[in-house]
Amino acid sequence: MRTETEAGTGTGPGTAGQVPARVPTTGSAVGYRPTFAEASAVAQALHDSLSGVLLGTPDAVTVAVVAALSGSHLLIEDVPGVGKTVLARALATTLGAKLSRIQGHPDLLPSDVTGITVFAQNTGTWDFRPGPVFAHVVLLDELNRTPPRTQSALLESMEEQQVSVDGVSWPLPRPHLVIATQNPVGQLGTHPLVESQLDRFGLSTSIGYPDAEVETQLVLHHGGRYALDALGAVCDPPQWEQIIETTASAEVVAPVAEYAVALVRTTRSAGTVRLGASPRAAISLIRSAQAYAILSNRAYVTPADVQAMAVACLSHRLVIDGAAGDGRELVRHIIATVPVPQP
Ligand SMILES: Nc1ncnc2c1ncn2[C@@H]1O[C@H](COP(=O)(O)OP(=O)(O)OP(=O)(O)O)[C@@H](O)[C@H]1O
Ligand SMILES: [Mg+2]
Repeated sequence: MRTETEAGTGTGPGTAGQVPARVPTTGSAVGYRPTFAEASAVAQALHDSLSGVLLGTPDAVTVAVVAALSGSHLLIEDVPGVGKTVLARALATTLGAKLSRIQGHPDLLPSDVTGITVFAQNTGTWDFRPGPVFAHVVLLDELNRTPPRTQSALLESMEEQQVSVDGVSWPLPRPHLVIATQNPVGQLGTHPLVESQLDRFGLSTSIGYPDAEVETQLVLHHGGRYALDALGAVCDPPQWEQIIETTASAEVVAPVAEYAVALVRTTRSAGTVRLGASPRAAISLIRSAQAYAILSNRAYVTPADVQAMAVACLSHRLVIDGAAGDGRELVRHIIATVPVPQP
């Protein structure tokens, strides 16, 4: 059965009228699950807050909100100085979470990320000292500058939501969102992420240069770090976790699921593709489309929601032959060719 949220019919992300600075859900109560309307209100409050910080890049803001609502890790690929760190900080602040930042560099050891077991002389016991990955929101700057074994230490934490140190598994705080950045320019001293690592990012985006008008706003102290200082939380981590659950229950009818799967499967047979998108990507595409629907004030997913998230969900996972290699263009082409289910 289709359910419009009480907030109204879907008209696109961030279109709700008045959104309180902090949405009064009672979500901290154990077992409480926010309604679709409450989840939509938080999503739009997140969107509005981030749009006031990261100026002139609505697509990147939408992808960041979708990552938060779907509980997906986010990869931001872009050149220096375009607002990657500011976006990550803004997202953590609005979600009421402390941001843990890890700077990628060639000497970064797995234990610098996950933590170490140390001998406590006063008690005569071995104690685990958690590393910076033990946080709700982790910013991993310049991930491709970290050596492969540190990258692979992140594989378990990103997928399993736990880390294993000296044979003991430690659960990470939930929700757990990794935002990793990498600079596509200047490959010297970098270790390109392996396919399995890329597949663990639910979404990828780039921010890009703002236009001249927005850049002028920035130099006149609007948005960016100045807006960040004034930013407040719209929820807290327990509420955020419940909003993820509500989002995951948005209705997906069989033709829409089949459409998402058809898009994913087409990536595997495209002529220039050496590695197509995985079933994990298909799941991620539906989760993201659910989040996009909630952000658009709807409790059900349409084919347009799937299309809206397909590039961000699939492009970074594709391995494409040589010079043909633009995953985004290929996904756009696939969207244009795969038949869309009619309502
Ligand atoms: N579109 C934008 N909106 C808001 N602020 C921006 C934007 N682009 C750049 N800035 C501003 O530029 C400065 C640098 O931003 P930030 O530190 O987030 O860049 P970065 O992409 O993380 O760079 P690096 O790759 O060097 O870490 C900040 O003051 C930030 O506010
Ligand atoms: Mg940065």
